Amino acid sequence: MNAQDRAAGSRAHQEVARVVLETAQAMYAKGLVEGTAGNVSGRVVDGTFCLTPSSLGYEAMQTSDLVFVDAGGGVVAGEGHPSSEKSLHLACYRQWSEVGGVVHCHPLYASMFAVARQTIPAAIEEVVIYIGGDVEVCDYHLTGSDELGEAVAAALGRRSAVLMANHGLVTVGRDPADALHAALVVERTAHIVWGARLLGTPGSVPAKVNQDFAGVYRWVRESSWGGET
Ligand code: 13P
Repeated sequence: MNAQDRAAGSRAHQEVARVVLETAQAMYAKGLVEGTAGNVSGRVVDGTFCLTPSSLGYEAMQTSDLVFVDAGGGVVAGEGHPSSEKSLHLACYRQWSEVGGVVHCHPLYASMFAVARQTIPAAIEEVVIYIGGDVEVCDYHLTGSDELGEAVAAALGRRSAVLMANHGLVTVGRDPADALHAALVVERTAHIVWGARLLGTPGSVPAKVNQDFAGVYRWVRESSWGGET
């Protein structure tokens, strides 16, 4: 690798680290996690991945605390321990080559659906546009396990969100900020559906509209994800 490639590689690392940190701090500020729970990652063009460290408070976190790993999970840069959900993040990137960012969080309303093991229905138009359809629940596996990572990546299908039974939510996007937006859309929808069920029997978006908007989601994902970050 020549000096120019090394400089470009390092710029790419810095840029992804900046977005991962901003996204992690926004996730915390928006109340999607308590304490040090949750984790965020981003794909770097050189085939490495930038992850938040395990069990470190978000407010004090700096880009120097982030950890870079290769596709096999080996640490290539950074002092701390990568998130204990490293396998989950890497499984999503492995399965979906266009995914550039992953967010795992424990939002209140979405987690109620995860505990009740109920799908969050795509009852609001924007869910279909940004998530691709209903948010399904994947089977329970132990936190941090390779099995959890594989189950989550498979259950995502070509959608942006999946619930982890008795645990929380995983979202993916073209980059970490996009994955956080997906998490916020899911949490808002879970809250709305929860409230609507208290008010009565929620209606559904017409099937044809859902089908068309799912097409919009697929088109955006196919045409604009997978670019360089
Ligand atoms: P880490 O602090 O190791 O990222 O774990 C937090 C978490 O939410 C595990 O599911």
